[in-house]
Amino acid sequence: MTENQKLKNWVKEMAELCQPDSVHWCDGSEEENQNLIAQCVNSGQFIPLKQRKNSYWVVSDPTDVARVEDRTFICSEKQIDAGPTNNWMYPKEMKVILNDIYKGCMKGRTMYVIPFSMGPLGSRISHIGVEITDSPYVVINMRIMTRMGKKVLDVLGNGDFVPCMHSVGYPLTDGKADVSWPCSTTKYIVHFPEERSIWSYGSGYGGNALLGKKCFALRIASALAHDEGWLAEHMLILGLTPPNGEKKYIAAAFPSACGKTNLAMLTPSLPGWKVETVGDDIAWMKFGDDGRLYAINPEAGFFGVAPGTSMKTNANAMLSMTENSIFTNVAYTDDGDVWWEGMTDDKPAHLIDWHKKDWTSDCGTPSSHPNSRFTAPASQCPVIDPAWEDPKGVPISAFFFGGRRANVIPLITEAYDWNHGVYMGSASSSEMTAAAAGTIGKLRHDPFAMLPFCGYNMGDYFKHWIEIGKKSDESRLPKIFYVNWFRKDEKGKFMWHGYGDNIRALKWALERVDGTGKFIKTPMGKIPDINEFDVSGLDISRETLEKLFEVSPEEGLNELNEMREYYKIFGDRLPKELLDEIDALAERLKKRRDKVEA
Ligand code: OXD
Ligand code: MN
Repeated sequence: MTENQKLKNWVKEMAELCQPDSVHWCDGSEEENQNLIAQCVNSGQFIPLKQRKNSYWVVSDPTDVARVEDRTFICSEKQIDAGPTNNWMYPKEMKVILNDIYKGCMKGRTMYVIPFSMGPLGSRISHIGVEITDSPYVVINMRIMTRMGKKVLDVLGNGDFVPCMHSVGYPLTDGKADVSWPCSTTKYIVHFPEERSIWSYGSGYGGNALLGKKCFALRIASALAHDEGWLAEHMLILGLTPPNGEKKYIAAAFPSACGKTNLAMLTPSLPGWKVETVGDDIAWMKFGDDGRLYAINPEAGFFGVAPGTSMKTNANAMLSMTENSIFTNVAYTDDGDVWWEGMTDDKPAHLIDWHKKDWTSDCGTPSSHPNSRFTAPASQCPVIDPAWEDPKGVPISAFFFGGRRANVIPLITEAYDWNHGVYMGSASSSEMTAAAAGTIGKLRHDPFAMLPFCGYNMGDYFKHWIEIGKKSDESRLPKIFYVNWFRKDEKGKFMWHGYGDNIRALKWALERVDGTGKFIKTPMGKIPDINEFDVSGLDISRETLEKLFEVSPEEGLNELNEMREYYKIFGDRLPKELLDEIDALAERLKKRRDKVEA
């Protein structure tokens, strides 16, 4: 166990509140893991897969399938510090509610205590959390997604940790029988950024329940990073090696389900190029003595969206989940494997779908939930970067922002300078996907892909990014790019193939980092000179290429006006530097429009 008094007191206090039958301190051993898995198999929650070693099929309650943003709260002392993009409640008021709903919420269950490290154990960039949960599914997934168990307590010693409280909210009172996916219709995902604690109630799914991920590594960590001068971002990290062998690392932020995992593990279509994965979802970055930003992936596994993942779209993800993996809300095949839409060209004739009902290829409904997921150990990724667990982190040379945009936004644009790049991050928007509950396809602003994940006022977050830019010399800071793989032609067809061909945009970006890539100045930023842009071996017409990079002053100005409106929600917390960027951009766009019209 532990000598850590704060931890002992907290566990005792939570056990008294939740009244579990027993308390189990997780040691993280294989034996413990197998015992928990056996328990889940016996209860019928886990179905072992015949085709993948130590892997299991699980389906959730049909109402518990995604992050619940409308039930997610940032409870800072002052509402203004949570900002206009977060739900807020006064901490004391929220504590009253929480203390009431957690009372006896673990009756008839075991309370698990999971010490976990976000990031390599002992790295100066890592942090420790302890999750309390009544869900064995959560423990098993946390063992894949984080470094957990006794080794973490050893490193923690008497140090500080982030308490992460979780309950599915389904006590087994008065002999009530358990169900295979316990959860509650009452849901709260609550963060106290000043106290640095998390309370999650009522959901067993993904980011609602695996509290190391979005709740800690993004919402709480972003607040910590703001106070301490570092960055906690919704970014993948990858190592990019060109044919000349001069490897560089980049980090990229895209809204949920916009292909982050695919980009992180991309198989380049250009010969001689290599991509290696450090992380697919979250990056924590601190300045090194050399003034460069060093990044770690705080996670130890992938919690990826299954549908659309195939040997064609992401072979490395597929190969990461051949064993020791959990599949949630996908379909189960007749030969004891898993399947989801897009995994193979041909659909199986028969499946058990994610509702555990018979499914046939002509039945007209999807077999898997669009936000169904695989949980797989990062160490099993065939292209995992050799430095992925380096406690120093990897030096970042470029940042990429982007989203799903059918029009307006070119394939790739380079910011003129740091503040212009911060503007680009703040302006990122995307058509919505199924990762969060909401209307699919609707365009929503998602600044820095952090809209659901920023643990404080987003206006202050923008200012933090501006301040980070002042902490180092511009030549040592990452260059900033904006990409859009999703532009469509007038017939509504994607103009860019994407996937492995995205290497072509990364290649140009790397050349820009080296100062060699040929570019053209546009009002929105620098774009590649298309005479030099590498489309070798690609079947794409000059006309399409021109459309992919088109900057329309008219569309640009409309977009700017819309951004001005959006910025108003931040009131005086919006940094003046961003208004200056908008003004400069408007000036450039108007000049271009007048020139075109003249
Ligand atoms: C995720 C998300 O699960 O961004 O990574 O929703
Ligand atoms: Mn994510």
